[in-house]
Amino acid sequence: MAETIGAASSLSLGERMVRMQGYQGLRSVGFAAMPRPVRALPSPCSSSSSVVTAVSTPVKPDPTQVKRSKVEIFKEHSNFLRYPLKEELETEAANINEAATQLIKFHGSYQQTNRDEQPSGKVPNRLYLVMDDLADEFGIGTLRLTTRQTFQLHGITKFNLKTVLGTIIRNMGSTLGACGDLNRNVLAPAAPLMRKDYLFAQETADNIAMLLSPQSGSYYDIWVDGEKIMSAEPPEVVKARNDNSNGTNFPDSPEPIYGTQFLPRKFKIAVTVPTDNSVDILTNDVGVVVVSDADGEPQGFNIYVRWGDGKNPQMEATFPRLGDQLGYVPKEDILYAIKAIVVTQREHGRRDDRRYSRMKYLISDWGIDKFRGTVERYYGKKFEPFRELPEWEFKSYLGWHEQGDGAMFCGLHVDNGPSPLRGSLNITAMACPALPLCPLAIAEAERGIPDILKRVRAVFDKVGLKYSESVVIRVTGCPNGCAGLTWPSLDWSIWLGGTPNQMRLAETFMNKVKLHDLETVLEPLFYNWKIRRLRRESFGDFSMRIGFEKLRDLVEKWEGPAEARPRFGLKLFSDKETYEAMSEIAQTQNKTAHQLAMEVIRSYVASNKLAPESE
Ligand code: HEM
Ligand code: SF4
Repeated sequence: MAETIGAASSLSLGERMVRMQGYQGLRSVGFAAMPRPVRALPSPCSSSSSVVTAVSTPVKPDPTQVKRSKVEIFKEHSNFLRYPLKEELETEAANINEAATQLIKFHGSYQQTNRDEQPSGKVPNRLYLVMDDLADEFGIGTLRLTTRQTFQLHGITKFNLKTVLGTIIRNMGSTLGACGDLNRNVLAPAAPLMRKDYLFAQETADNIAMLLSPQSGSYYDIWVDGEKIMSAEPPEVVKARNDNSNGTNFPDSPEPIYGTQFLPRKFKIAVTVPTDNSVDILTNDVGVVVVSDADGEPQGFNIYVRWGDGKNPQMEATFPRLGDQLGYVPKEDILYAIKAIVVTQREHGRRDDRRYSRMKYLISDWGIDKFRGTVERYYGKKFEPFRELPEWEFKSYLGWHEQGDGAMFCGLHVDNGPSPLRGSLNITAMACPALPLCPLAIAEAERGIPDILKRVRAVFDKVGLKYSESVVIRVTGCPNGCAGLTWPSLDWSIWLGGTPNQMRLAETFMNKVKLHDLETVLEPLFYNWKIRRLRRESFGDFSMRIGFEKLRDLVEKWEGPAEARPRFGLKLFSDKETYEAMSEIAQTQNKTAHQLAMEVIRSYVASNKLAPESE
């Protein structure tokens, strides 16, 4: 992979620090590559915002490496995300221009959709009520919960944006950074368990969110006229942000970690505790797992990073691959280690082609050892070996649970889609909003999922799978995978092989399946799962064990269940007492209760069979 802008990796860190002081390289090199020169930092923006001419992300000296995506140029000229957003918001036009559209993502708005993010999913009551009112007053009356523990408000027009965002900020919410090229909402298990490791995971998520939040103040300039409404930061967060002992920072910049260019692409972090994969850890760029000692006292963290090769020119190229083990850090080092990872991506992630700008491509290109080595230079220490951890589980937290402090909490299921259907399929099914709410949608998802679940349920019935059986179904209206990339639909691609605990993600099984052909694919798959699976084998594990090639063959040659035995629907033993009595007798004859009952019924039927009518 070509390295594009970023620090010269061949220089030692010491040299790099020297060169970074007052460095203006990006701008001048960037200009040479641009079709028409633009002034460095146009400043018709707010009078309250001072024009900053300080440090920007340095570039490699090689002038051939200056190809950059358009968004990089918008960021560079934005005066830290202000220009031309502020001006565009003040025009009479219904929309804002392209540059402002890119910038407003950093502020948490995406074409009439606004995201409020709360680290580890905690929402104060007041903020919830405020969001609810805003949805009624300025949106379309709906408030959507997202898999990244954020709220989404839909249908906010440009003219109401300032009121809506201002109200959220004043009520201690934040949309800052919800959609741009920077760290997104930091996830942690949302369950209010009063266990030391859970509390520590949530505290760490909060601290990482603060560490990586933008510092230049443009957010407050634009939405609340420069008023700084921020909660106090713990001193260790401020110290970690300002620390430049390993050449991570732009010391004179209003954005000490991000510089003018921010990150090449969005960046996602989740923190959790061993076994709890409620945060879908491997879909994050960085996964952080609390490691505790035998007394349950948190001692440090295992860190995973996500990688993917992107070699395939197709859509698959941008599909997530499994995370890799970076190493272990003691707890006091976590903010420094996270910052080092972010800076490695800032410096070396691709900025020429946004399709390949996520950190996973950098890791895949370099290999984990080179990546780890570079991170260690910014971290200033070596990672310790990964600590052994138990198996992951999918925890839904539905229903009542002990909190650990004598109180209980209750997890409620929020159905996706407009007409909820009950049942085990629905508990894990998820759809993104898609049509008509999402401007990027090319297929139905939320509106279509109730019908899809009904059809899947019908296939279950047909092949004889029980009502309590389940597969995880995700439907999205485009490949962005907003519903947790398990089953995006692009002219209906079908992806299989994800595990229920989300530690293996689904892969493409078939492309271009027409919606009306869904059953022709699912029926043979589910039928074979039913008759060939191992004990307790999930559908995903089954698919991987049999192999996609064999499964495709089964789909192609499918002519209905082999012995399509009619189902008579005779349900024995609807009362427990009879069952137990029958079971007792059956045991003495070395039979099951069911076998004995069938014998009794058969002999009863035989002895009462009507003689054929004589003529
Ligand atoms: C309707 C408005 C929405 C729009 C316009 C939208 C837009 C996008 C875009 C453009 C991406 C890809 C971003 C990138 O690769 O940089 C994305 C990813 C994502 N969105 Fe949405 N989204 C919307 C709704 C939602 C909702 C409602 C949820 C959650 C329920 C959601 C959760 C996510 C997640 C988790 C990802 C990341 C997937 C991954 O790469 O791991 N989005 N969204
Ligand atoms: S997956 Fe695509 S269609 Fe669905 S909400 Fe995300 S961007 Fe929109």
